[in-house]
Amino acid sequence: MPRKLIIDTDPGVDDSMAIFFALRSPELDVIGLTTIFGNVHTDLATINALRLLEIAGRTDIPVVQGASDPLAGPFKGPVPFVHGDDGQGNAHLPPPHTRPREGSAAAFIVEQVMAAPGQVTLVPIGPLTNIALALRLEPRIAQNVREVVLMGGNALCPGNATPAAEANIHNDPEAADVVFGAGWPVTMVGLDVTHQVNMTRAHLERYAQADNPLAQHIARIVPFYRDYFESQHPGMDGIYVHDSSAIAYVIDPTLFVTERWPLRVETQGISRGKTWPFLGQGDNDRLGPWRGRPPVNVCVGVDAERLLALELSRLT
Ligand code: RIB
Ligand code: CA
Repeated sequence: MPRKLIIDTDPGVDDSMAIFFALRSPELDVIGLTTIFGNVHTDLATINALRLLEIAGRTDIPVVQGASDPLAGPFKGPVPFVHGDDGQGNAHLPPPHTRPREGSAAAFIVEQVMAAPGQVTLVPIGPLTNIALALRLEPRIAQNVREVVLMGGNALCPGNATPAAEANIHNDPEAADVVFGAGWPVTMVGLDVTHQVNMTRAHLERYAQADNPLAQHIARIVPFYRDYFESQHPGMDGIYVHDSSAIAYVIDPTLFVTERWPLRVETQGISRGKTWPFLGQGDNDRLGPWRGRPPVNVCVGVDAERLLALELSRLT
């Protein structure tokens, strides 16, 4: 039986790659896309999610719009210099023909998880606001979800949005702290591993050569994103694989090495958005703000070659 998945997303070039990767994977049954601000404003994230499903010929999958702002304070704004003004590498696609489903992303997540106890996996690949709101709406989703596999955070390495913080967590640290503390099965697929997975120009060229509309769309939107990476990291060839790494984990967790640590998210000062693991042993005097926090899975190692081969085999 394919695994039921809800992808919570801010598409976004790498989100688009991750969504298409999931749609082309027989192990997975994508039952909904919920949208969130991050790479773009939430309204545009919704339009892009609808566009992507039209390109993939999967308009049977519902899109449900999520929150427009973080739990505390307004959204600080999109990143057009990374993903283009349209979040699709400035491809300037026509408007979608389809519309989002009525209701909120949080309510949709609750409805789906509670309707199929133990079956639904949540894959947030944007800021965690919708997931925290769903927990607030119905705390019992924590006992009824199958698993939460999120792209975000940085346990043992620097951030990418700031020297301290990764972009998804930095966009709503309060929500992230709720999600990591909810006592449900969470796996963090963060920069510790995604910065080890480099899809090169030679890899990316395979999308351009592939004769399917999903790969063709990726080939169209990825150059703008690739140019951003190459301008930020002198000597880099291609892109880091962020959001697709979370999809890869759901398909094959043996691609990764994980540790189990309690995590807190810094919500104050210059380190706002930093994910801090407690690396010590047991219940001791140093636990402090980590006291009572459940351990979560943190990806710390990855077989990059095997991950790249998996993703490319599904789309090219
Ligand atoms: O830090 C990488 C994450 O930030 C990815 O989810 C990317 O799409 C951006 O949102
Ligand atoms: Ca994303």
